[in-house]
Amino acid sequence: MKDKTIVITGASSGIGLVTGEYLAAKGYKVYGLSRRAAEDSPINFIACDVTDKAQVAAAFEKIGDDIYAVINNAGIGIGGPVEYASPEDVQRIIDVNIIGIVNVCQAAIPRLRKSKGKIINIGSVAGDLIIPFQTFYSLTKAAAHVLTQGLAMELKPFGIKATTVLPGDTKTSFTANRRTNLAGDEVYKDRIERSIARMEKDERSGKDPVTVARVIYKVLKRRRPPLKVTVGFEYKLLVFLNRLLPQKLVNGIIYRLYGGEK
Ligand SMILES: NC(=O)c1ccc[n+]([C@@H]2O[C@H](COP(=O)([O-])OP(=O)(O)OC[C@H]3O[C@@H](n4cnc5c(N)ncnc54)[C@H](OP(=O)(O)O)[C@@H]3O)[C@@H](O)[C@H]2O)c1
Repeated sequence: MKDKTIVITGASSGIGLVTGEYLAAKGYKVYGLSRRAAEDSPINFIACDVTDKAQVAAAFEKIGDDIYAVINNAGIGIGGPVEYASPEDVQRIIDVNIIGIVNVCQAAIPRLRKSKGKIINIGSVAGDLIIPFQTFYSLTKAAAHVLTQGLAMELKPFGIKATTVLPGDTKTSFTANRRTNLAGDEVYKDRIERSIARMEKDERSGKDPVTVARVIYKVLKRRRPPLKVTVGFEYKLLVFLNRLLPQKLVNGIIYRLYGGEK
């Protein structure tokens, strides 16, 4: 196990940093791909913007052929109504949260074929339970799981496994890094600001990122990992109920919590 090499994107802060350090402490050799690097870390950082296919390919050339798993963790959020979202913000979240996964998988798969390794995509509970005024984020996180499912089937004969890990609210820099657009709030009667304030409050009092790191470690260790695993009992329950209950009822509850009128 000592020499198993893991590549994690978005390793410069939050879940990626904590997970990279956790896995390094477990004896993995960890490479971190992000635009910035964290100081005094056991992670081997390679500066890389995951939206740039050439940069991703160059990073994998540096790492070499011996890779056991990739963890697609780099991600951003945008907040605001679909109606007023700027094309640049929409393109950016798609580029980082979806195309980033595609770029990394395309570079990694030939290597994972040799190791019969693993792909772990970091989704979100918000990819199952769609959150208003965070719709594009939910869209990209749902897409992350679509990629997991497609990859799992395409790569099955090669022994490569794919899993989506779904964190709920987690205390990281994600909240501060979210690009929020309150345009149109007068039309939406302050619902945008209230909704975003609520999600930010939940994130700030969210779980320690190490809870996500532990789940990722378990997925890495399992010979037959699940397709999807949710972090934390309360979020597991929410995801489970969401599968059982009628969609309209679920939407009604989320509407009242995140988008409803006063
Ligand atoms: N925090 C939560 O409540 C929560 C809940 C569910 C899911 N998640 C997911 O967990 C993942 C990690 O988020 P976090 O909470 O740890 O947030 P974070 O602290 O803001 O970390 C985001 C990471 O993504 C990297 N990143 C952003 N754009 C990038 C790009 N173009 N190329 C390479 N790296 C890029 C950042 O590094 P650089 O800026 O150095 O590039 C940073 O290391 C995300 O996918 C997020 O959607 C978070």
